[in-house]
Amino acid sequence: MKKLVSTGLMGLCIAAAAAAAIVYDKSNFSAAGRVYQPVPERYIIGKDNGPGVGLHHAGERCDNCHKKGGAAEAYLWTASGTLYADRAGRKVLPGGEIILQDREGKVISMTANAAGNFWTNTSIASNPFAVASHGGMTEPLYVLDADGNLVEPADPADPRTWIYKAWVRHGAAVRPMVTLAPVGSATGNYMSCNMHHNPKGSRGALWVSSEPALPSYPARGLKYTEHIHPILNGKCVPCHIPGKTMTRLVTKSDIDTPSTAIDYSHSLDLINYRGSETGGYLKLGIRSVVNTADPGKSLLLNKTVPGALHGGGAFWDQSSPDYLALQQWISEGARNDLYSSSQRSIILLLLSD
Ligand code: HEC
Ligand code: HEC
Repeated sequence: MKKLVSTGLMGLCIAAAAAAAIVYDKSNFSAAGRVYQPVPERYIIGKDNGPGVGLHHAGERCDNCHKKGGAAEAYLWTASGTLYADRAGRKVLPGGEIILQDREGKVISMTANAAGNFWTNTSIASNPFAVASHGGMTEPLYVLDADGNLVEPADPADPRTWIYKAWVRHGAAVRPMVTLAPVGSATGNYMSCNMHHNPKGSRGALWVSSEPALPSYPARGLKYTEHIHPILNGKCVPCHIPGKTMTRLVTKSDIDTPSTAIDYSHSLDLINYRGSETGGYLKLGIRSVVNTADPGKSLLLNKTVPGALHGGGAFWDQSSPDYLALQQWISEGARNDLYSSSQRSIILLLLSD
C-alpha cells in the first residue's frame, strides 16, 4: 500500500531566505554569464514539486520509464532525478532543494523526498536558438535562411531546447550546476553535465551538502594532508582541478563567437597544493588564494560564503567547522605538511647529487 506524501513534498510553505537584492539578468545565459549567476531568492521553496509519492527507483534514470511509450508514460516530468549529499552518490539528501531558472526568469523549485527523489511537470521555457551538443559535436536545432534569418525555431517540445540555470541548495551550501544541459523525458537527456561527468570516476551525482567534510578538526595544528586537502578535494571539484575545464557550446551565441569558451577552474587548482601543469593548462595552487598575514582577507574564505560572487557557489558560513578549519590553517601559515622539513632536506640532498 502506498503511503501519502513524504516529508520533502510537505515543505511547501517555507519561503526562501531573503539575501542581498539580486536581479535576474537574461545575459547570464550568454557563455560568460554562465560562469556566474546569483541563486534566485524570494519564492516558495518546493512550489513545483510534482504530484504523487515517488519513492521508487532512486538514482535511476526516471525517463527510462517516464517517457512516451515507457512504462510510466501517464506521468511525464519536465525535470526529475535524485539528489545526493555526496559526490559519489552514496547518500541521498532528503529535504535538499533543486532550483531551476529558465531563460524567461521563471524560478522552478523542488525539494527531494525521503528517497532523495524530485520531479516536476512545470514547463521550462524553450530557446528558439538552441544547439544540440555532445561529445564535441554541435548541431543547431533551428533553421536559418541564407541571410541568417530564423526560418524555423528549435522545437519547444524538444527538451534539448529548455535552457535553464540550475542550483542545488542545502542550508548555507548552494552549488550551481556547471552547464545548461537540458533534462527531459523525450530524448534521454536527463540531467545536468556535472551529475554524470565526474573527474574521479564514472559516476557523478547531483549533490550538495552543508555537512562538514570531516567529523571534527583540532583547535590548532591543522595539517594540509589530513584536514585541508579532504575539504577542498571533497567540495571544490569538478571545477578547481588540473587540466582542461572548459564548457561546451549550447546556444547560437556560442557558435557565433566560439572564443567565448569558459574555464570553470579560473586557472586555480585546489587539489594540488602547488598547482599544476597538465595538458598545457598551467594552474596556480592554494597559496595564490590565501593571505597568511591577514587570514580574513583570503579569497579562499571570502569567495566561498553565502552572498559572495562565486561561480562555484557557497559552501559554508562563517561559523561552519570547515570554514573555521581553513581559517585556522591559514593563520598557522597555510603550510603543506606533505614532507616534513627533515624529509625535504633529504630530498634536496638527493636531488643536488
Ligand atoms: C523502472 C521504471 C520506472 C523508473 C525508473 C521510475 N519510475 Fe516512476 N513510475 C513507474 C510506473 C510504472 C509508474 C506508474 C504506476 C504507479 O502508479 O506506480 C510510476 C509512477 C511514478 C509517480 C506517480 C505515482 C506515485 O509514486 O505517486 C511518481 C511521482 C514517480 N513515478 C516518480 C519517479 C521518479 C522521481 C523517478 C526517478 C528517480 C522514477 N519515478 C523512476 C515506473 C518507473
Ligand atoms: C561549479 C564550479 C566551482 C566549484 C565547485 C568551486 N568553484 Fe571556485 N570558482 C569557480 C569559478 C567559475 C571561478 C571564477 C569566477 C569567480 O571568481 O567566481 C571561481 C573562483 C574561485 C576563487 C577566486 C580565484 C581568483 O583568483 O580570483 C576562489 C578562491 C575559489 N573559486 C575557491 C573555491 C573553493 C574553496 C571551492 C570549494 C570549497 C570552490 N571554489 C568551488 C567555480 C567553482
